[in-house]
Amino acid sequence: MSAGTRGLRLLVAGITGQVGQGFIEACRAAGDAAPDVVAVVRRRRRADATGDGAVSHQLIGDVTVPGWGLGSALSDLGRVDAVLNLAGATDWTASQAALDRVNVLGAVHGLSLAQDLGQHLGSPVAYLAASSVFVAGLATGNIPEDSLPAAADRTPYETSKWYAEQALARQAAATGTPVLVARVGGVVGNSMTGRTTRRSSLFQLLSPRGQRSWPLVPAQPGARVDMLPRDVIGEMVLRLLGHARERDFAAWRGGVIAHLAAGEQAPTLASMLAQLRELDEGGEYQVPIIVPVPVGALAVASRGAVRYMRWSRAAGNRLHGLRYVAVDRVFERFRLVGLTGGWLPSASLESVLRLTFGLPARSPAFEPGELPLGRLT
Ligand SMILES: NC(=O)c1ccc[n+]([C@@H]2O[C@H](COP(=O)([O-])OP(=O)(O)OC[C@H]3O[C@@H](n4cnc5c(N)ncnc54)[C@H](OP(=O)(O)O)[C@@H]3O)[C@@H](O)[C@H]2O)c1
Repeated sequence: MSAGTRGLRLLVAGITGQVGQGFIEACRAAGDAAPDVVAVVRRRRRADATGDGAVSHQLIGDVTVPGWGLGSALSDLGRVDAVLNLAGATDWTASQAALDRVNVLGAVHGLSLAQDLGQHLGSPVAYLAASSVFVAGLATGNIPEDSLPAAADRTPYETSKWYAEQALARQAAATGTPVLVARVGGVVGNSMTGRTTRRSSLFQLLSPRGQRSWPLVPAQPGARVDMLPRDVIGEMVLRLLGHARERDFAAWRGGVIAHLAAGEQAPTLASMLAQLRELDEGGEYQVPIIVPVPVGALAVASRGAVRYMRWSRAAGNRLHGLRYVAVDRVFERFRLVGLTGGWLPSASLESVLRLTFGLPARSPAFEPGELPLGRLT
């Protein structure tokens, strides 16, 4: 881990969420290099989300309000090196207004807050905002770490993330503020403990035996599933911050985008389902068969179906989640590797599947026990 995070002071929103908890877990694991985290939490302080001391203070605020509603607490804050917005509205079936309020307003207010703090402190305060790789909508092929064009087929969630990115890019370019838009890929639980706040899109498509399930899953041939454990995403955020801080956040000035994802290492949906059949020794899951379809059919199945029909929240989220496992594309990581100083995250397919489906780790087939030492003759 880069020493650049030692002594770093961060103002962070969203610590109780899946990404926020991964970040707090990574801070805790960083030991001496852990930054000082001041958390912005809604309504009440959260003793259960502080990672056993990884959060030094909690301030009550709300990202949808200018200055995140911190008011006079800001003047007592002291030095802040960076503001992190890991808060978000992530119910894919919520209204466009509800999604925009948190995802667009929250992102923009966060950047203004970093700029105001910078003015007050007399030196720029960096800003990192969590976006999503799924801002790409149903784009296929290689997805660059750049601003993406407008597209009619985005869902309300994807649209809110797209508008947030556009607004941040404009404001960062106009002011030269150091801003990183961190497009996060799919997130599963902690790689060591399995702790999670919610189930992934892949899990939602499969049902435990005995429940109503989809025997067939429509997907583009070659579709990939890009998911990483939440603490790995957290470590990536720390490495990005540490590397940038050692260079005075020069690479972030005026705005930059990076994919915090498995990228070219993301497995195909077909290989994931095949391996799941092998790992699921108790036959707990009904693993569906992939029906190859063009990407246009996915648009109709996911976006069209929820636009014109009434679904429960669970079914609607399942349909949206289909978009995140059924498209043949690679989220490029060329900028990520530069911004971390050469480090890329990885997680084995087996570990991601075990975390996603709560499958126990395999015990070693052979326990060596007490054996005589071999002789080198
Ligand atoms: N998880 C993923 O797979 C994934 C993938 C790609 C991108 N992302 C992005 O990463 C970010 C975090 O996602 P997540 O999965 O961690 O979300 P999450 O688990 O739903 O958590 C959302 C977090 O945002 C906070 N929050 C919501 N509205 C707020 C407000 N008005 N003011 C202050 N805090 C507020 C929540 O606090 P409360 O405890 O008060 O509700 C919670 O800490 C989002 O921008 C999301 O789009 C996530």
